[in-house]
This record gives sequence, C-alpha cells and structure tokens, in this order.
Amino acid sequence: MSTVHVRKIKRIAINTGGGDAPGLNAVIRAVTLCARRRGWEVVGLRNGYGSLLGMAPVMKLNHDAVLGIAALGGTILGTTNKGNPFETHVTYKGRKRLAADVIAENFKKMQLDGLIAIGGDGSMRISHQLMQRGIPIIGVPKTIDNDMGCTYRTFGFDTAVQTATEAIDKLHSTAAAHERIFVVEVMGRYAGWIALHSGLSGSCNVILIPEIPFTLDAICRHLLDRKKRGRSHSIVCVAEGSHPQGQGMFYRGGKEKGREQRLGGIAEWLAGEIQRNTQLETRWLVLGHLQRGGSPSTYDRLLALRYGAAAVRLAAEGLWGHMVSFQPPVMGHVLLEDVIRQSKCVSPYEDTVLTGREMGMCFGDEIKPHVRNSHPTAKDKTAKTGNRSVV
Ligand code: F6P
Repeated sequence: MSTVHVRKIKRIAINTGGGDAPGLNAVIRAVTLCARRRGWEVVGLRNGYGSLLGMAPVMKLNHDAVLGIAALGGTILGTTNKGNPFETHVTYKGRKRLAADVIAENFKKMQLDGLIAIGGDGSMRISHQLMQRGIPIIGVPKTIDNDMGCTYRTFGFDTAVQTATEAIDKLHSTAAAHERIFVVEVMGRYAGWIALHSGLSGSCNVILIPEIPFTLDAICRHLLDRKKRGRSHSIVCVAEGSHPQGQGMFYRGGKEKGREQRLGGIAEWLAGEIQRNTQLETRWLVLGHLQRGGSPSTYDRLLALRYGAAAVRLAAEGLWGHMVSFQPPVMGHVLLEDVIRQSKCVSPYEDTVLTGREMGMCFGDEIKPHVRNSHPTAKDKTAKTGNRSVV
C-alpha cells in the first residue's frame, strides 16, 4: 500500500501509547524541535488517544514545553496500555460509539495533518488500523523489551538492562554472605533480551529466557554442581515469560478486556522448586516496573532523539504509514503493515547466548557449549529444546 500524502503540513500531533520506556520524552523533544523548525505547529495528545476522545485537552508543544525533558523518565503526555480503540466503546456527546470512530472524527475536527505515534507492537497495530480511517501516521517503535520486529534496537532497553545489571551486582554480595541462591525475575514477555544482556553482564549462573524452555533438572544439576565445586552462592536470572519445557507461561490474575494478561510468578515458583530439589536456601525477587523507570541512559537518549528527528523527516517526505526503523548506522523506515507481522526474539544460536554457554552459564536446557564451532549444526537445531546433549 502506498501511503504518500502530498498535503502541506501545518499542524501535527504526537502521542505515547503502551507501557512507558525511558526515552519517550527525548522523542517528544526531538519531534517538537524538528517540526517547529519546519514551521509546523505541534500538539501532544494526552494518555494515548485521550485528547481525541474528549478526555483531556491537547498539550501545546513548543521550545519551552520540551525544555530539559530529554533526561526525564516517563512521558510528559501520559500513556495507557488498556482500551484498544477498535475494541472499546465510549460515551461521546451522549452516544455510545466505537472509540476509533471518535478518534478519526476529532482528528479531522482539530485540523491535524498527521500524527507521530510512539508505541510498541500493539500501538503500531492500532496505528495501521487508524491509517485506514484516514489518519496519516508515522510510527516510532518503543519497548524496554527490545522485541519489536523491523528495528535493531528500541530505546528504553539499554536503561532497563543497566537497572537490572546493577540490581544483580548488588545481589551477589548478599547471596555470597548467606551462601544462598537468588532467583531474580526481569521483564521480557515473549523475548528474553533483558534477561540475556543483564544476566550475562551481571555474571549470573543461570539465565532463563522464553525462547529456550527449561527443565528443572538441568537447573538444579547446574546449581548442585557449582556447590560441589565450592561456589557458595548462585544467581538465576529469569525473564518473566520463561517457562518449563512443555508448559505455558506464569500469569497473575485473570485476563482484562483490551489488555495483555499480566505475567508473574515464575521466580517465586522456581525458587520454591530449586530449594525443594537441591536443599539449597533460595530467595527470589521481582524487579518489575523499576526497569521501566528513571532517567534514560545516554545511549537511549541519543537513540530516542534520532528516532524523533527521523520521524519528522519521514513526515516531511510524506511517508505516512511507515515506522522509523533503526538499521545501524541508518535510520530507515518500514511499512507499518510489515512491522505488525514481525517480532524480534533471541535466537538460541546467537553470539550472546553462545558466549554465555562457552563461559559455563546454564540456559536451563541440556545443550553444551560449542567451544570450537560457533555455527549451529543441523544436529544442534534438532536438539535446541530437547533433552539431548549435542557435544
Ligand atoms: O513494556 C513491556 C512490558 O515491560 C512487559 O515486559 C511486561 O509484561 C509489561 O510491560 C507490564 O506492563 P504493565 O504492568 O504496565 O501492564
């Protein structure tokens, strides 16, 4: 679908949707400054699409409004990860209507020429659907989980990994003092990027990610073996979406309409099972939303500013219906419809996993490191989640 609009831009909107991520404000700043330099007026929509649903006034964005915000966590516009407008009805001017219809109507009424939508995969799906209702949108990918397809890295990930690594560093001393095992749960619903990067950087002994289903047996054997070799403590880093082979993920509570079901419970369950099976004293903790908070790292700030500037460039070129895509060193673009079909998971054969295996870390499966040959063989591939040893 070609989505080039040649209309002259006078006024654009920007919004932030889904879970927050450090760097959102830096995108807002870059979009505002770059757009204002082109003579465009910029307004911020509050709480996702709230300002187009009559729930909150828009925020005027100019140089003063974005002063000093690149260093701030959260989002000055507010965000929401509930209420998909194509599944939600709202009472608007006394009538019950589909939220998406109200959004499209008010977008026109406010004389907006385009929208820069910053969000995750859910937000990009909504953006793609809103395009069909006549709203010209440029997407900017965001998630601390780094699992969005068509882009190498999302802002927020680096900060989250830094937060998780610092927490793991601190756990080492208390774990050593008490000769305990600690299970630390980090975010990562479908992809284990945070667990992989912080687990490796924080010298964890076991790293569990959703892409490599684990067996308790492999984990307990590894921990007991460490104990036998005189290692007094161990740290297990587990992504919230990890699960044992042949079993599903761990959830907390039921499914609420219009939002993803909350994950939780894997660390607590695993700690109990490890202690029961090894008799080694085991504690657990969940880092949770700490990973989404705080000031963005320099890397995330710079990446976010580049995403924002690139989004304005795309708008100026009329490339509505595209998402900015970071393909280092280039800031390129991809069609929204291509983005929504893809996600970016950890390959069990990628170099970071291989590095961990070669250093003796356990990934909860039975595969041993390929010290000499870093390329997966056909034999490796069949054994990736099985119980066989391939070396
Ligand atoms: O941003 C993605 C994510 O961090 C997931 O890893 C996690 O499951 C989810 O957000 C939690 O979101 P919330 O508790 O805000 O609904």
